[in-house]
Amino acid sequence: MSGAVFYIFGATGDLAKRKLFPAFYSLYREGKLGENFAVVGLARRPRTSEQFRDDVKHSIQEFARYKITDDEEWTRFASRFEYMSLDINNVAGFHELNVLSTRLDEQYQTGGNRLFYLALAPELFGNVSYNLSEGGLLKTKGWHRLVIEKPFGYDLPSAERLNGQLRQVFEEKDIYRIDHYLGKEMVQNIEFVRFANAFFEPLWNNKYIANIQITLSETVGVEERGGYYDHSGALRDMGQNHMLQMLMMMAMEPPSRLHPEDIRDEKVKVLRSLRLFEDGDDVRTNVVRGQYSSGSSKGKTLPAYREEDSVNPQSTTETYFAARVHVDNFRWAGVPFYIRTGKRLPVKTTEVVVEFKNIPNNVYLAKKHDMEPNLLVFRVNPMEGIYLKMNAKQPGSEGVIVPVAMDFCQSCQIGINTPEAYERLLYDAARGDSTYFTRWDEVALAWSYVDRIAAAWNEKTDDLKEYPAGSWGPEEATRLLTDDGFKWWPINGQNEGEVDWETVQKTTVLT
Ligand code: BG6
Repeated sequence: MSGAVFYIFGATGDLAKRKLFPAFYSLYREGKLGENFAVVGLARRPRTSEQFRDDVKHSIQEFARYKITDDEEWTRFASRFEYMSLDINNVAGFHELNVLSTRLDEQYQTGGNRLFYLALAPELFGNVSYNLSEGGLLKTKGWHRLVIEKPFGYDLPSAERLNGQLRQVFEEKDIYRIDHYLGKEMVQNIEFVRFANAFFEPLWNNKYIANIQITLSETVGVEERGGYYDHSGALRDMGQNHMLQMLMMMAMEPPSRLHPEDIRDEKVKVLRSLRLFEDGDDVRTNVVRGQYSSGSSKGKTLPAYREEDSVNPQSTTETYFAARVHVDNFRWAGVPFYIRTGKRLPVKTTEVVVEFKNIPNNVYLAKKHDMEPNLLVFRVNPMEGIYLKMNAKQPGSEGVIVPVAMDFCQSCQIGINTPEAYERLLYDAARGDSTYFTRWDEVALAWSYVDRIAAAWNEKTDDLKEYPAGSWGPEEATRLLTDDGFKWWPINGQNEGEVDWETVQKTTVLT
């Protein structure tokens, strides 16, 4: 990586503390940052650089993959962190920042390269970009990149406005929009498993696949984010971004070259093929929404969503949604993609299940046995791995057929300490690799899709179902699949009354 000065706007916030500082440290420890870099923390709060380095140290001690063991190395790392209190609406502060930056450029030989990370509310993105330019920070001869967090707008019109503001200052190629799911090891692995295995690609279509299920379930409620979440809801918070991104990874065609733009082109084609909902009734037939009421999990009583801090007590915001999505192209015609996400569900997990079509039920073994279809499951988090569910003869039996799992448990392997998504993304942005960032056309198309759902939900709210905190969401989400003759496959064996994966026989562990 070439040298650079990194600017963290929102340096006293949660994201910086939990993700960004630890990511810098891991990258440094792995030699990926080199020595030619500096980090400038920016926020309104007054703080000295010394205090800031202490904050960084605490965050690393609490959240980083690597522990600080070598004092000398730590001092070398920490000395590169500077803090400046900044009012982002006042251009004078940006001029001052530019003076500091010139000093850091020279001191660390960063070649004038500058990466601006906005860990801020999106309403502030426009002003910050404008003032970066006015303050002279974009005048060096190196590269200038802008990294921004989601949400990118609230709907298509607001996203367009925001994009317009950024584009006055930065070119599209220099805007890195984060979707942290794209930084997850197993989300990236979808592409590798699909395109690096001779036995998957020929089966990856509507001839052999019955349906695909994508689940992002969370046990947490809205925590301290009630104010933001009540305005956003599950559809905007998870659907428009993480879920559609995973769907694209599953459905895209193989790109002809391993170039970021070629990969993103293929993803965009998937979004263009999504069947748009025609009207409110179409949405209500294909999309289920829910909100958690009080309930319990592991013996703990949990409050209803409407009782959470900063949430409107009459709120109709969805904390759960499930949808039947169609990708109308030759590969996927007729294969439903079922997606679901929710807060206060029984387990924290992200899984993608590919259900293959079953063998015809009137031939050979299938005549006598009720066989389950083959499944290929990507476990994205917190467990990372892939397993393939197959049918095999139960050892010692007279032809009893049982499901077995070929299980590759990545997170079980000793010595694997998977990099955090933010490490990968920070590193990629610094190297100028935009593959795992979202391009403007992806964002815009994703909003067009989601906006139709939101518009239907605005018409009336009688389809909003309650589900008790700690349950698997509204019953109606089951209907989405049973209507098509399918069912949600159990997540880690947690769906009541269904296969318990712990009892599923494990065969060879692949390494
Ligand atoms: C964020 C959402 O983008 O993703 C949160 O805003 C959600 O509401 C989080 O909790 C989930 O991310 P992860 O990596 O914990 O699955």
